[in-house]
Amino acid sequence: MKPFYALSDHERDALYRVLESVGKNPFEDYPAFSRAVADVVDRGEVPAFFTQVCGRIRAEREAGVSDAHVLRNCPIDAHVPDLDPDDPIADKYAKKKTFVAEAFLELFAQLVATPLLAYATRFNGDFFTDVVAINRYSGMQTGFSDSELVFHNDRTAHAVRADFISLLGMRCSDADFIYTGFVDGRSLLAHLSEEQQAVLRQPCFITPFDVFSRDSNSRQTVSERHPILENHHSFRYLDTCTTVAEGSPEEAVRALLAMKNALVRADKVRHRILTGDLFALANQDGLHSREKMEINDPARARRRWLLKTYAFRDQSAADRYSGHWLDGVPGRVAD
Ligand SMILES: [Fe+2]
Repeated sequence: MKPFYALSDHERDALYRVLESVGKNPFEDYPAFSRAVADVVDRGEVPAFFTQVCGRIRAEREAGVSDAHVLRNCPIDAHVPDLDPDDPIADKYAKKKTFVAEAFLELFAQLVATPLLAYATRFNGDFFTDVVAINRYSGMQTGFSDSELVFHNDRTAHAVRADFISLLGMRCSDADFIYTGFVDGRSLLAHLSEEQQAVLRQPCFITPFDVFSRDSNSRQTVSERHPILENHHSFRYLDTCTTVAEGSPEEAVRALLAMKNALVRADKVRHRILTGDLFALANQDGLHSREKMEINDPARARRRWLLKTYAFRDQSAADRYSGHWLDGVPGRVAD
């Protein structure tokens, strides 16, 4: 997938200098960090080109032009530490003392007006999390392994789900080819009849919680019964796992098969996230995947690191969940 915009080195460096000045630690006090980034905006320090690029992405999302965008050559920290695959999060807290990449993701979220979301039961409630291979999840269907991932939404089984995901390449080898796939919900709809869509809108389906969620919260094993299709083209679906709930009519099985066929046939985009690439995509109005196309050095590929944020569509979407906020921190849900 072609970048929507590639920053020149001059633009990247100008933005880096602004972000570097945000003197707060997002892992100690997220609200203070977020306010410090807002202050940078309020003081008019954000280079005009970046405000314009974010405005264009926001407009394309609102107009239904595209729900997947790539920015290239984004600022990240000058020093990106190697993380211990046994416990990368503790190692990150110990080693990563600058927060340029985090400030970049926060600024992006503010300028496209999509408030961030975090889950209190994972990553200590952090708003900036790491897509890295963790040794104990090796070979499992979770973003925290180095495996391929079938088409899915993040946190399919959970009650509060992100509208958008941002992935920022922190360490991505040029010589291993790992692609993030995206299929827009509208492309899926084009391959489903009215009748099939109507059945997919019934709460006849269940999705088991992923292994990482079960580890973080032992009460989480399987979702409530849910529709696969919601809103205009939101899909709640984890391929190979979402299935028909017991006692559902036969037509639900046929609709699930139609869904699987639609997923194979629908147009998709694929993007290889490079170091410094931001890939921002819809989490509910589309599905995403991870494909390992060509791994030339498995050990090097396992060291891949993406910094990730979850976001709500807009302020009013966030406000609908305000009853879920933990300890009064907007966006941090007690799930
Ligand atoms: Fe995912």
